[in-house]
Amino acid sequence: MVAGAAVAAAVLVSLNATGAPAAPVASVAPVAAAGQDAAVQGGNADTLRALAKRAGLKIGTAVDMSALNNDATYKDRVAAEFNSVTAENVMKWSEIEPTRGVLNFGPADQLVAFAKANGQSVRGHTLLWHSQLPGWLTEGVASGDIDSAELRQLLKQHVFDVAGHFRGKIYQWDVANEVIDDNGQLRDTIWLQKLGPGYIADVFRWAHQADPKAKLYINDYNVEGLNAKADAYYELVKQLKADRVPIHGFGMQGHLGVQFGFDGRALQNVQRFEALGLETSFTEVDVRMLMPADNPKLHAQANGYSILLRACLLAKKCTSFTVWGFTDKYSWVPGFFTGQGAANLLDENFGQKPAYQAVKETLALAG
Ligand code: XIL
Repeated sequence: MVAGAAVAAAVLVSLNATGAPAAPVASVAPVAAAGQDAAVQGGNADTLRALAKRAGLKIGTAVDMSALNNDATYKDRVAAEFNSVTAENVMKWSEIEPTRGVLNFGPADQLVAFAKANGQSVRGHTLLWHSQLPGWLTEGVASGDIDSAELRQLLKQHVFDVAGHFRGKIYQWDVANEVIDDNGQLRDTIWLQKLGPGYIADVFRWAHQADPKAKLYINDYNVEGLNAKADAYYELVKQLKADRVPIHGFGMQGHLGVQFGFDGRALQNVQRFEALGLETSFTEVDVRMLMPADNPKLHAQANGYSILLRACLLAKKCTSFTVWGFTDKYSWVPGFFTGQGAANLLDENFGQKPAYQAVKETLALAG
């Protein structure tokens, strides 16, 4: 966030010191000035997006296109609560090009149109990843039908196809996603194996040519605090900057779990990346828990969201804070982490959880 940083710092320090929100600050906040966003939606100013706007922050959510098309409450909440959206899946390579040479931009275009109609910005996710690749690509590489030279050409074409298609419509692109493993080594993927480590600089250069105005991000999970993986990113980004690679942002996914506890040094981590000349964002925040959920877990969860949001608000160049879905009704968590769930701000019936209240209160204090 940029505007109101000093106010945010003062208020949040007092929040930390007393352990309780400074209620009068929130209640005297100039709600009437909450801006166009709320007016555009015809709703009240008491939404995350109205509060985030006052705080100078983009607040986003990943969007599940089938939920958007089939669930009116979901659609209404996306429009009302957020001023930024990310495609949860429909901009990934497997979705865009399931058949080689046949590009399907339909669902992603629909999201971009929805965002425009609702005064929202769009984060692009993601140009380069080792997961959700089309079968023809992974099978071709495995069988040897696609050699290294052809793979490099396919990747380049993909970046130009996708970043070019959305040119001028995306404010931040997750150009490279999850390229380092939890030990701090470059991840062992087909990209590293076949193209060598230079592929990372290449994709940023290609993306910059295809869409010169978009802010280009490197993005990963388990990099929200100080650890070997975050250190490895720090060194990688430093090198990319030294090599004049067009990289502009460090994205921290923020997939946390109550059972692991939270690293309280998120702000320190954000600040060291900003000192390298990057902006920062939290890009996929959710805080899962072992099921069943209970009150202590839900309050711990609220604290997890708050730690990341506070780091963003207190930093100088943290521009967006995106949650990876906002209702437990459509969360990816139960399908990927056995026995875990309840990771989002709203429950399965769109009821507000303590985490929603915490996010709202923290935004209100910062505005
Ligand atoms: C997840 C989606 O939420 C799921 O619907 C999909 O089946 C798998 O991918 N890190 C990322 C996201 O960068 O793209 C992932 O999204 C979650 C982890």
